[in-house]
Formats: sequence, C-alpha cells, structure tokens
Amino acid sequence: MFICNCNGVREREILEIALDATTPRQVFNRLGCEAQCCRCVPEIAQILRETKEAARQQKIGAARMQERVDERSVANY
Ligand code: FES
Repeated sequence: MFICNCNGVREREILEIALDATTPRQVFNRLGCEAQCCRCVPEIAQILRETKEAARQQKIGAARMQERVDERSVANY
C-alpha cells in the first residue's frame, strides 16, 4: 500500500526503517526522497509511533517472560 503517493513510498518501506527514524523527515532522508505535498506526513508519523510502541510492548513482554523463567529457576533450585 502506498503511503506517500508523491514519492511512491510504500508502507512496507517505512516499516523497514521505522525503528531507526524518529521523524517523517528522517524517513524521507533514509529513502532518498523529500516531502512534497506533505499529505502523507501525519500517517508516516503515526506509523513511526505505532511501530515504536509495538517494539516497546514486545520488550516489556520479553522482560516479563525472562522474570518468570528466572522465578521458576529459583523455585526449582
Ligand atoms: S504524499 Fe507524501 S509528499 Fe505528497
């Protein structure tokens, strides 16, 4: 699905770099293009926020799982 029609940027391309970019401007820079009409900027910003939140939740989940493993290891020792 195209997110930025001016530059032909697809959602998949944004997702691939979303964890390394903080702003839509950085996304454009990483993809070698620049904002033109800026209609896509709010959606790019939302993709960045959602991707970072998903990564944060995944980290929390992994940390909780490790805590449970550690607790079980201590309990079984
Ligand atoms: S749709 Fe992205 S700059 Fe126009």
